[in-house]
Amino acid sequence: MCGIVGVTGVGDALPYLLQGLQKLEYRGYDSAGVYLTDASGKNALIKEKGRVAKLAEKAKANGFAGTAGIAHTRWATHGNVTVENAHPQKSSDDRFFLVHNGVIENYQELTETYLQRVHLVSETDTEVAVQLVDKFSKEGMATADAFRKMISLLDGNSAYGFLLVDHEDPETLYVAKKKSPLLVGVSDHGNAVTSDAAAMIDLTKDFIELRDGDMAIVKPSSVTIYDAAGEQVNREPFTLEIDPEDTDKGAYPYYMLKEIDEQAVVARNIAGHYYDEDGNLQGIPCAVTDAIEEADRLYIVAAGTSYHAGLVGKRYFEQWAKIPTEVHIASEFAYDQPMLSEKPFFIFLSQSGETADSREVLDNVKKQGFPALTLANVMNSTLTREADFALPVLAGPEIAVASTKAYTAQVLVQAILAAALGNPGFDLKAELAKVAVEIQAITDEKETFKKIAEDALVGQHSAFYIGRGLDAAVALEAALKLKEISYIQTEGFAAGELKHGTISLIEDKTPVFALLTQSKTAGLLRGEVAQVAARGANTIVFASENLAKEGDAFVLPQVNELLMPLLAVIPAQLIAYYATLARGLDVDRPRNLAKSVTVQ
Ligand code: G6P
Repeated sequence: MCGIVGVTGVGDALPYLLQGLQKLEYRGYDSAGVYLTDASGKNALIKEKGRVAKLAEKAKANGFAGTAGIAHTRWATHGNVTVENAHPQKSSDDRFFLVHNGVIENYQELTETYLQRVHLVSETDTEVAVQLVDKFSKEGMATADAFRKMISLLDGNSAYGFLLVDHEDPETLYVAKKKSPLLVGVSDHGNAVTSDAAAMIDLTKDFIELRDGDMAIVKPSSVTIYDAAGEQVNREPFTLEIDPEDTDKGAYPYYMLKEIDEQAVVARNIAGHYYDEDGNLQGIPCAVTDAIEEADRLYIVAAGTSYHAGLVGKRYFEQWAKIPTEVHIASEFAYDQPMLSEKPFFIFLSQSGETADSREVLDNVKKQGFPALTLANVMNSTLTREADFALPVLAGPEIAVASTKAYTAQVLVQAILAAALGNPGFDLKAELAKVAVEIQAITDEKETFKKIAEDALVGQHSAFYIGRGLDAAVALEAALKLKEISYIQTEGFAAGELKHGTISLIEDKTPVFALLTQSKTAGLLRGEVAQVAARGANTIVFASENLAKEGDAFVLPQVNELLMPLLAVIPAQLIAYYATLARGLDVDRPRNLAKSVTVQ
């Protein structure tokens, strides 16, 4: 989703801004723009539809690099994908330039009340904001005051991360945020502002996290921050622990393949973090387990792939920790809260920690006074900061839009947390070591899955993943992977439900992938595979070693059945990857999708 970068006092600003935008590309966008300036006030505004590479070409051809600037990747919400609607947006007399993440709910009312006489050239809510700053400045306000006044007029539900430049004071960046992440990067050779720290690591690893309601004034060698009450405050920077190489593709053609391959290492890292050398659990504060033990029910809230990881985690909390657990889609829970138990405890699962739907639920839950824990891959994110507790998911930076390693990492961390609360009845640490080895073994079988994908899916317009029990939960994630990047309409299904309607969709050669790892229901699932095969389906069975039969497409190595989702999902990830490649599509950047959806 939309991304912001800005720099000041860095010497040559353009390379930082373009690299920053490139690092934000993975979040999803449909246009991009950059505004450059220097101390003398010379400036350039360049915007493009489509890829950052196109913008970079145009900006380099322009020849002006500037010493300060702001840049943006836009994912259209208000107004179509056009150059006029791309950011930065500017005021009519070319004095103020603004980039914005988020949505201004009352921009139409603001236009009617304040901007009747202003000619708006875009359809965006952002232009309204920059024109308001200009209007208040013309009425005699200093820029910081005009900026603050504009913000004070925004509807309480509005989310924003703003970065403003005033042409009359070109090297100063005016910054404000609410419900949209924004950090100030500090260094002794210039300062930066960014919506994602990873985008600015070429300049610095030291970042100040802005809080909701903060406003900051960032100059080449100073940063001044005011809190929501307008008081000047000191906020200490933290050092980002990230290796710039972690965010590079290295020798891989796509991030997705790199991230699929990283899963074995991620599994080992997670075990290394949460277990000491003697096999004792560590890294989960007693305060967390105590708080959960007081609860009579767990509510896991998440979106997309994280929701699917929660469906697996439910089993661990119920079976090992003996706590009834419900899993909810955040966007549904936010506006239709189900009846809660007497002592609920909330677990938010999120790769990014910024998903607006989940944040909305966390807000509601906090208002009701219920305790919450966030399991997130990006620590220091909003969901980790605003929950009572947070634990890291430790997948490392995930760049591809289609989530892979964050899913397995979330399943693993939930298993470990459930083990800390109860008893799995086996040596989880030893079993996780085996899981890591077997993940590696499956990812080494790329050619097998490439062939399956090409044989089964090329030329197909629909497909199914079926399973029972935990396999049904994995089938949902497997289907999401395939459909979201290959655009082959794929349904994930609890196999027993097929006969109640969906089986009528089966035609000659319809690919039906069956995940078969749960012994209790293996016989029934074999029956369902036979039923669809009898109706012409091309059945492709991935069965665990103990349950495999001749003719199965791939035998999954055997680990404890409850941990089989960690293995069963890997073939599906690779099949999605190769099916997408075979269709000539961009694996890492599926159309219309964003990595982190920061609007509701
Ligand atoms: C977006 C991404 C998905 C992700 C979902 C939830 O839709 O494209 O891959 O699963 O958001 O994101 P979160 O960061 O909260 O896990």
